[in-house]
Parts: sequence; structure tokens; C-alpha cells
Amino acid sequence: MVREIQKDIFWVGVKHPELKNFDELYPTLNGTTYNSYIIRGGKKTVLVDTVEEEFAGQFLDNVRRVLPIEELDIVVVNHTEHDHSGVMAALLKINPRLQVVCTRSAENFLKQLLNRSFNADVVAKEKEIDLGGKNLRFFPLPFLHWPDTMMTYLEEQSMLFSGDAFGSHFCCEGLFDDEAGDFSEDFRIYFDSIIRPFKKNVRDALARLKGLDLKMICPTHGPVWRSEIGRAVVLYREWSAEPFQSGKKRVLMLTHSPHGTTRRMGQEVSKALAVKGIETVELPAIDLDEAKFKNELERCDALVVGAATINRDAGPPLWKALALLSTVTPQSKVAAVFGAFGWSGEAVELIEERLKGLQYQLPVAGLKWRFNPTEDDQKACFEFGIKFAEALTS
Ligand code: FEO
Repeated sequence: MVREIQKDIFWVGVKHPELKNFDELYPTLNGTTYNSYIIRGGKKTVLVDTVEEEFAGQFLDNVRRVLPIEELDIVVVNHTEHDHSGVMAALLKINPRLQVVCTRSAENFLKQLLNRSFNADVVAKEKEIDLGGKNLRFFPLPFLHWPDTMMTYLEEQSMLFSGDAFGSHFCCEGLFDDEAGDFSEDFRIYFDSIIRPFKKNVRDALARLKGLDLKMICPTHGPVWRSEIGRAVVLYREWSAEPFQSGKKRVLMLTHSPHGTTRRMGQEVSKALAVKGIETVELPAIDLDEAKFKNELERCDALVVGAATINRDAGPPLWKALALLSTVTPQSKVAAVFGAFGWSGEAVELIEERLKGLQYQLPVAGLKWRFNPTEDDQKACFEFGIKFAEALTS
């Protein structure tokens, strides 16, 4: 399918309604699309973004319906992930003189993805290209969501080619937001899965793009925004806002406590933190409220993990919860670990190693107690909390 979405601008992407999981990571409730666009200027014709390799045949046919591939002048690579660069090798084989406009990071990634040389025009900072009656402006926006990312703005038609940002994994008969029905949940899940770890970069991008007239936002996935651009921007602003801070230090305590003793340790730690004016929000790893856990990671000044040892390891619910740490950018990477055990007690060290691997600082050594605590155990636990609070406030 090819569709002229504005004068001399063509959608030449492909639809993938059967997709159930994107990147084998994120469930896609309604498939996805890989959006690609052709812009015909008076002097030059540009292709913006490409698609997954498995759709190469369909995609190249789409392009050929607009013009012979040999006549393309430029391909703009806003982002090099496989779903947007999968056809680059085929394109360059057909048209080796194609100029590839991309960031330095994208150039480096492409070299390793394609294992061949190509004619790169690197966007080091904001720059423009005159296509003849149409002017393209490029905005490098690294880590939105890869280091290579940029957006492209077509001035005369007020169209923003936004890459993955403002995308949705959503596939339908239509192309535009006003033809798609309700895809608000898909749009939110997409932000949460792909864009959320880069909230600060979203805020920076919104500031950078402020003032641009926007008549269309053309992302690489899902509906093209033309009717509800304001809503999309407001939601991105809202979702990427800095978390509320009460002014008080706050610790997130994640616990797994099959026999209740690790949780009792947590109570001693919380008491000590409260003495030092620090509030604690405890979330049990079992039946974890994942949304709350992620929100608290973004808000809290530290993470404390209570890890019971089960069969020489931390329990599966805890590992599952810790797998979420990289799905957000935590407010802080300061942590401490404690845990009860019966025979061996490996969980504390294992969780400490995991946290260190994610660049967390652990200012106090992990603490364990065996079976039921003595009075001395309880005191040690309180002291552990005091020491951690001091490290946090010093
Ligand atoms: Fe749609 Fe980051 O790839």
C-alpha cells in the first residue's frame, strides 16, 4: 500500500498485524506498522526511515510505485534499530550512491550492521538540507531511545518525522489517528515500554521542538498524528514529567519474605530510617504492583531490598521485580540489601552483585539473620538502618 499523505509526501511503510511481541520483549495487542515516507522535492527525493528486513520485497515494491529506487537521492536514518534499518543493505545494493543522512552514532551502528561502506552525511548538530522547495531540518536527540536518534522536520509542510517517539504498536485499516479508532492504550504501553526509561530526554526533546508548527507527526510505528497532535504532545509532557517530591527523603523497600522474618528485618530498618526522618514505602515482590514499583523507583532516594534465601538463591518473585530496574531511570542508584535465611544465606550477596552490575552504590554491607532473631540481631538490623540513613543524608 502506498498513500500520498500530503502533496508529494508518500507513506510507503508496511503493516504487521500478526505481531504478538515486539523484540521478543513487549506485547503488541494490535500488531504494528513500520512507517516509511518519501518526500519529493524539486531537486532531491528523500526516503525517511525503512522497515524490517522480512518485509523488504513489499517495501521495495512500495517505493518503486513512487519512483525507481535508483533515482532516490537521500535516505534519512532517524534511528538504526533493525525494524528501521533492515532494508538498508538491499537499498544500498540497488542504489550505492544513496546519501545516508544520520547522526555519527547511527553511522557507526550502520557500519557494523551492514558491514559495508556507504556515503554518509553526518548530522553532528542541528542542520538543514534544501530539497528544492522543501527544506528538511534535522534535530539530533540522542537516547530517545537509542544513542543514534534524531528527528527530521519538513518546514514547508510542518511535518515532524519523529522516529520511535510518538509511535504506537498498533495496526489498522487506516493510517491516520482519526482513522484508527481508539489506540490510546497501545500509545501508552508503547511509551511505557520503549520511551519511559528516557524521560529526561523526552523533556529535552519537547523543549527543543517547542515553537515548531506541527501539522503532522509521522512516527515509525502506528498511526500518523494529524487530528490530535495536541493530545499526543500533552500526554508525552505528562508522562515524562519529573516525579512529585514531598521534600522528605524516601526509600523504596522491596521485600521477599516467605516465612515473615525478612519482613521483620525490614520493620527494624524502617524504624531506623524514620528516626532519621526518612520515609519508607514497602512493596512485596510477590504480587508486585509493577506500576507503583516503577513510579517509586523514579521517585525514591534509595532502594532497599529484603531478600530471603530459598534453595541457595533469592526467590523468583524478587528476580522478576529486579528485572524491572532497567525499564525506568531510577531517581537514585543507592541501595542496601538484607535478608533472613535458614541454612546458607546466599541471597544477600547475589542481590548485591546484581545491583552492582546495574551500577548501584552500596554504602553499607549487606546484613543477614538466621531463623528467629535474637535481641542482638534486632539491634544489628536497626544499626544497619541508621548507617544507611546516614550514608543517604551525608
Ligand atoms: Fe522501532 Fe527502536 O525501533
